[in-house]
Amino acid sequence: MKRSVLKLTVIALTVAAFVWAAPRSSGVVAAGEEEDAAATYKSKCVMCHAPDGSGNTPVGKSMKLRDLGSADVQGQSDSQLYDVITKGKGKMPAYEKSLGEDTCKALVTHIRSFKK
Ligand code: HEC
Repeated sequence: MKRSVLKLTVIALTVAAFVWAAPRSSGVVAAGEEEDAAATYKSKCVMCHAPDGSGNTPVGKSMKLRDLGSADVQGQSDSQLYDVITKGKGKMPAYEKSLGEDTCKALVTHIRSFKK
């Protein structure tokens, strides 16, 4: 009898801890998405587009990349930039399958941070 009460208490506490933690951890995930985008940009995009988006890398220069912070690029809509990232364009690889929609959307937001 005593044991089962103890068990129930443990279960109740565990459930309570999850319920309490759930909204907090989803907040952490949302904040993490922006960091994710920065990290993804570093690992997947920098070799062509450079850390500041300028395209000032050997590969970027050979492909004549436009500066991601320039008016030409920033003047495009979010969905235009999103399409280039997800579907690719010319030598720009498509990332929809490997990164997923959410990360690609976060990358558009990240690219907006290059605006001059
Ligand atoms: C292999 C080199 C390469 C890599 C890696 C690469 N890109 Fe690109 N990117 C290009 C090229 C080349 C273009 C120009 C495409 C065109 O207009 O023909 C481009 C264009 C773009 C554009 C549109 C800019 C414009 O000039 O209108 C965006 C936005 C972009 N890339 C984002 C990204 C992001 C985000 C990543 C990483 C997930 C990435 N790129 C990785 C080569 C690359």
